[in-house]
Amino acid sequence: MPIVSDVLRFNHFLVPEAAQALGDNDDMAKKLISHLEDGASFPTFIGIDDLRGVGIDVASHPSVKGSEPGKKLHRDIKARTCEDQEVAVEGGEMSSGTSGGISIPKTIEKRDDVAPVSDLLPGASPGTDLLRPELGDVSELVKRTTSLRRSTLSSVARPLIKEGVGGKPRPLAAEYDGDVKILFDPVEHMGSKGKIEDFRRLFLDRYRTLRNILRTQYGELIPTEDAGTLQPSDEHTRVIGLVMELRTSKNGHIMFDLEDPTGSVKVLISKNKEIFNNKVVDDEVIGIVGKFKKDDRGPSGIIFADEVFKADLPFDYQRRTSEIRGLTAAFSSDIHIGSVNFLRKEWDRMVRWLKGEVGASIGKREGGCVKYLVFAGDLVDGIGIYPNQDRDLICKDIGKQYEMLAEAMSDIPSHVEIILLPGNHDAVRLAEPQPPIPREYQEYFYNDHLHFLSNPAFISLSGVRVTGFHGKSLDDMVTQFKDVTYETPVEGMREMVRSRHFGPTYGMRNQLAPEDVDLLIMREAPDILVSGHVHRFGYTNYRGMHLIQGSTWQSQTDFQKMMNLQPQPAKMAIVGLDSPDDIRTWELEYSS
Ligand SMILES: [Fe+2]
Ligand SMILES: [Fe+2]
Repeated sequence: MPIVSDVLRFNHFLVPEAAQALGDNDDMAKKLISHLEDGASFPTFIGIDDLRGVGIDVASHPSVKGSEPGKKLHRDIKARTCEDQEVAVEGGEMSSGTSGGISIPKTIEKRDDVAPVSDLLPGASPGTDLLRPELGDVSELVKRTTSLRRSTLSSVARPLIKEGVGGKPRPLAAEYDGDVKILFDPVEHMGSKGKIEDFRRLFLDRYRTLRNILRTQYGELIPTEDAGTLQPSDEHTRVIGLVMELRTSKNGHIMFDLEDPTGSVKVLISKNKEIFNNKVVDDEVIGIVGKFKKDDRGPSGIIFADEVFKADLPFDYQRRTSEIRGLTAAFSSDIHIGSVNFLRKEWDRMVRWLKGEVGASIGKREGGCVKYLVFAGDLVDGIGIYPNQDRDLICKDIGKQYEMLAEAMSDIPSHVEIILLPGNHDAVRLAEPQPPIPREYQEYFYNDHLHFLSNPAFISLSGVRVTGFHGKSLDDMVTQFKDVTYETPVEGMREMVRSRHFGPTYGMRNQLAPEDVDLLIMREAPDILVSGHVHRFGYTNYRGMHLIQGSTWQSQTDFQKMMNLQPQPAKMAIVGLDSPDDIRTWELEYSS
């Protein structure tokens, strides 16, 4: 335990295997800390090979294997719906409608092993006093690493459907074992009681972590000066801090306070400078370079900013790819089973495509190349999520909604690894980060390879790093950024990457759980970022990173119609894991 939290102070994480090995050896743990104190270069997630690279010869720990979540339980659950009703089948119109989900308190069941949203302090003011409390002990990074054996097959061309028993085609994906690694699991750090001190710790961790990233990426921010002790000068001043009380001056300039643990300083971004268009929001951590002048209107001073720095991607960022040729991953979101608007017919078509039985916009042979299927939250429709939702539910029992989901998943081919994140409609706390869906519901599922993860989730799939985040903070971003709308949510994802945070602003619609460390920081840039929540579909490439909005399997609800939210259902992004540019749209247009 201590080594994990000690390493965390340097903004690094130990992968489970390394944490276990060092936990058994104090000398080696001290050696690592010594290297970190000396400024040795390590990746964000430190593994066994990284330790060996600096002469710490730990043995691989044998206990890291096997997965517990997603275990298969062969329950004989009959396909059924609540109240003996038939599942409604939508007509299959592919155009529009969406949630956009609104922030209505849930009445559904909650877990009792993490702080329920009702325990979190509403209205607590974040970061107003960044004291220096020591970080409490952070839970050991534990791990759930799954199915790590990799096939010896290493080089095949796509599409690859091999001949199996009796001459029957055998999908390429069945030739390989799944390689799902959980790089970092937020649930291991959850345990907040929602006290004011917890918010202080959270924002202090946010400041420290993003300050380190900013200083690593921008030499212009070194040396970094303290906001609380600045003196007027004709030289440029460099400060890193949290943006507080963002406002527009009466002359149209952007103004805010920039706060660090020593105090705060006023900053002005002139409307006449190009950096005026650099979008800044409350509670994000940024770097400012400018001249600090005395404020004629009072005893304090003000920085007239010349440059604004966001954490963003490293300049040398490059997307990683899998060494295995031909495998793909499918990304989607927002299944919303339990809703009368769940698109059963389209869902079944998708499952048949995975089995190589039917074509879609991508031919049926390539359905067999899909090794991973990722859903970014809102697995079920839930209960009491928005006004009068009960009119839209075919099933008003949350447990039975998960049984219906299990049934819907049951026909997905057994060689597909299924990744499931929760969202704001699921039976977990609303405040982010969210834990995986409760174990009692996980047990309803009987697929071979299921992975129930937290929101956000940080994993690798055959060596390609994927971060999934449901995207509730997009509800806030549409009010903060002009170019982020419910029609263009992928622009909001771009802002998440630029700030390296999934939802920095506290006190708006998205709820934040005050954990000891800020689990919504994008500490390491993934290769693929997938989100959902707004039921739109699309993808773009931001400096090499795939940003994917995951569609939905729910047609437009009456509520969405009233809110003029237009979903784009029944679509998936299919990403070739061996290629940095291979990304295509799966939808119900038929090909061979
Ligand atoms: Fe949703
Ligand atoms: Fe949602």
